Amino acid sequence: MLRVLFHKDVEAAPLLSKVSDYTKTAEMLKLPFWIFTEHSDPIGVVITGKEPVRLLAPMGTRLAIVNLVQKNWSGDLLKEFASQTVKLALEQEAAYMTVELLAEEEAAIDSFAEAGFTVLADSFMMSLRLDQEFTFLHTLEFNQVRKEEMANWIQSARKCLSGSKDVVMERILANIGDLPRNLMDMYYSLEKFYFVNRGEQEIGVLNYNPQAGMISNIGVDVTERGQGYGRQIMLFGLKQLQTANCEQAKLRVHVENQPAIRLYESLGFKVSKRRKLLIYETGT
Ligand SMILES: CC(C)(COP(=O)(O)OP(=O)(O)OC[C@H]1O[C@@H](n2cnc3c(N)ncnc32)[C@H](O)[C@@H]1OP(=O)(O)O)[C@@H](O)C(=O)NCCC(=O)NCCS
Repeated sequence: MLRVLFHKDVEAAPLLSKVSDYTKTAEMLKLPFWIFTEHSDPIGVVITGKEPVRLLAPMGTRLAIVNLVQKNWSGDLLKEFASQTVKLALEQEAAYMTVELLAEEEAAIDSFAEAGFTVLADSFMMSLRLDQEFTFLHTLEFNQVRKEEMANWIQSARKCLSGSKDVVMERILANIGDLPRNLMDMYYSLEKFYFVNRGEQEIGVLNYNPQAGMISNIGVDVTERGQGYGRQIMLFGLKQLQTANCEQAKLRVHVENQPAIRLYESLGFKVSKRRKLLIYETGT
């Protein structure tokens, strides 16, 4: 039988250190969370809050984030946990709830699916060691985006990322323009954003996170694809990460995005993990 403890309950205190890897977002954003336990072992954590947190819905939308702390529970317990998270989300009037799992965590995925969750994203995490030379042709111009140009960059990104099958990124880009100023400034300070041009012609977009060693987005305008530009943009991005002293480059790509996967594999990227993001939309 599962017990649910609010993070401020006295009985939750001894569990806080055991779940601290899963409550960083909650602590950073000062959000409430609940710990689900079985015989005083934490099974999972549910954090609730309002957008902007995941940016999958307009600002102010209530949401919940589920984290599975223990992965090796029996199917019955996982099912009970999944259905109780739905109950909590409804009580908290969350419009949606997400849980991210590795593709091999099949029992957990099945339990959440049975509770009404559906797969929103199915992605490969890929990585490449940056211990080689990256040279790119200088036919493209890489213009770093100024803070006041971010709204234009977001519009270009929505256009250039079309066809990526990445519904999560589509939803983020649809909502990110409404971020409060301080959060947009924070996003701008963490990532490097580029417009990619050829003369007057807009070819594509790129953004990467030098601290995380992450190529966050690359996109080529649909009318300019298949001419080698995507490869040049990737080579530029990898060179930038190398210059920022990253040992490896990481990225996330939808498992069915064949053009992008072929490009990344041809550059030497290998799949490290497959992750599924499941969502439960309450319709409130
Ligand atoms: C992925 C993307 C950036 C590739 O850009 P591009 O300019 O068309 O790619 P290039 O012409 O440089 O091709 C580079 C390699 O990509 C692969 N590729 C490109 N288009 C492909 C297609 N339609 N089918 C299969 N592989 C393809 C090939 O391996 C190609 O190398 P090759 O020409 O030697 O065979 C582009 O398709 C795009 O913007 N897609 C939508 C946004 C997106 O999916 N971004 C990645 C999100 S993770």
